[in-house]
Amino acid sequence: MGSGLLFPAMAMATATLVIVFVQAAAGQSEMNMLFYMTDNLTGSSETAFPIAGFNGSSSDPGKFGTVVIINDAITKRPEITNSDTDNLVGRAQGTYINTNPVTGLDFFMLFTIIFQNMEYNGSTLQIQGTETFGRPQREYAVVGGTGKFRFARGYVVCTTESSSGENAVLRFNTTFRTN
Ligand SMILES: *[C@@H]1O[C@H](CO)[C@@H](O)[C@H](O)[C@H]1NC(C)=O
Ligand SMILES: *[C@@H]1O[C@H](CO)[C@@H](O)[C@H](O)[C@H]1NC(C)=O
Ligand SMILES: *[C@@H]1O[C@H](CO)[C@@H](O)[C@H](O)[C@H]1NC(C)=O
Ligand SMILES: *[C@@H]1O[C@H](CO)[C@@H](O)[C@H](O)[C@H]1NC(C)=O
Repeated sequence: MGSGLLFPAMAMATATLVIVFVQAAAGQSEMNMLFYMTDNLTGSSETAFPIAGFNGSSSDPGKFGTVVIINDAITKRPEITNSDTDNLVGRAQGTYINTNPVTGLDFFMLFTIIFQNMEYNGSTLQIQGTETFGRPQREYAVVGGTGKFRFARGYVVCTTESSSGENAVLRFNTTFRTN
């Protein structure tokens, strides 16, 4: 396991996210963010690891009951390259659990997005929902937040940007309000 990606010493994106502020009803402000999560279960820089399940840590993530712990990169663009230093905006830290005994394609997602870019450094969004991998579009809830995103509530529309074996890049179109 390459510890480089898991705990990046240079996770310092300097530019801000592309964020659209939409004026919503009664003084509420709505934010929209578009970013990507790279979830690699295999390869030299994997960031997702099965830790428990019917066969312990050797459980198949595609099988019911397997718990995967993640520390995935959240980026502005779907491709991660070392030269693209302002791409990284944060990490997704948490778990997903395979919850479908028939298809093995449902995952209960529960994670924190910890922002590391300058403007929102240290603020978080709390994400929860069921990922039905293979469906064209899925939706998770933004159930809370901290720092600049206190009282956050909203939703993430998730689509698969690309996938290869057990590795995938998910596109998150995130819409939420903080007041
Ligand atoms: C994730 O996996 C894909 C497909 O196997 C690979 O092309 C990509 O380079 C990997 N990303 C990282 C950050 O390791
Ligand atoms: C556990 O291992 C058995 C035997 O290899 C296999 O048939 C089964 O699918 C595995 N289950 C999980 C959850 O990985
Ligand atoms: C984010 O905050 C951490 C901890 O306070 C700090 O080490 C890091 O330099 C900050 N990053 C940016 C991009 O401001
Ligand atoms: C993101 O989602 C919002 C709200 O659901 C939608 O209005 C917008 O068109 C979407 N943007 C992209 C780039 O998909």
